[in-house]
Amino acid sequence: MKIIKLDAINSTNEYIKELIKNKSIKKNYIVYSYNQTNGKGRRGNVWYSEPDKNLAFSLSLLSPSVNLKNQFIINIIISLFIIDFLDYFKIPNLSIKWPNDIMSGNKKICGILNEIQLKKKHIESIIIGLGININQENFNNLPNASSLKLITKKNYDLNNFTNTLIKKLKKNNFFVPFFSNTETLNQKNLISSYNNKLYCRKKLKSFKLSNGKIFHGNIESVDINGILNVKEKNHSLLRSFNGNEIQIII
Ligand code: BTN
Repeated sequence: MKIIKLDAINSTNEYIKELIKNKSIKKNYIVYSYNQTNGKGRRGNVWYSEPDKNLAFSLSLLSPSVNLKNQFIINIIISLFIIDFLDYFKIPNLSIKWPNDIMSGNKKICGILNEIQLKKKHIESIIIGLGININQENFNNLPNASSLKLITKKNYDLNNFTNTLIKKLKKNNFFVPFFSNTETLNQKNLISSYNNKLYCRKKLKSFKLSNGKIFHGNIESVDINGILNVKEKNHSLLRSFNGNEIQIII
């Protein structure tokens, strides 16, 4: 494991991707910065971050023994790890907004972008990108975003925060699941822990479909393949969606 801290970078995920492309890395890397200038979010969104306020953190896992069909397990493991980590910092009301936003109450405090590189049908590497809003106090155009500081009224030492994150990643054997066969992991326990932390479970929410239509329903559960089950209001129909088909409206 090699750790690189960058004073500034366009995107920590892109930085690792380049390293992998150039085949210059043989081991796993952690790359992080407090000044990410062109961060990438899910669904082609931009991930904004004020300089020197937040953490942009990426982690590469080379040749993990995760089958492509089991890839949602990556989301489960990383989301549960982050919840556990933020719990250590006493951040209140933590939950996972499917598929993998980390919330405190109704505010998003951490975004996760997993990028998979394939070789034929095998996962050659995974890049796990974490954006954690730490000391930023203004989210003008992002009404659903917040930071640890806004929530707890405390200022965080970024170096201490990041070092604790790295220590916990190592100590909690975070890497083990990726290098043991995911078929043998206790999938039932994993998905039930994920569902226990699911944002607004059993609550009525509005959803936006990829065609722009809105509908309302109760969040029931997520399965091990990352499919969200929603009971539609009025019809009581159980509908299932993958992460690209639908968005939960906060
Ligand atoms: C999202 O919620 O849309 C995901 C946001 C992921 C942001 C992180 S910050 C570190 C890493 N580098 C990037 O360019 N993006 C991820």
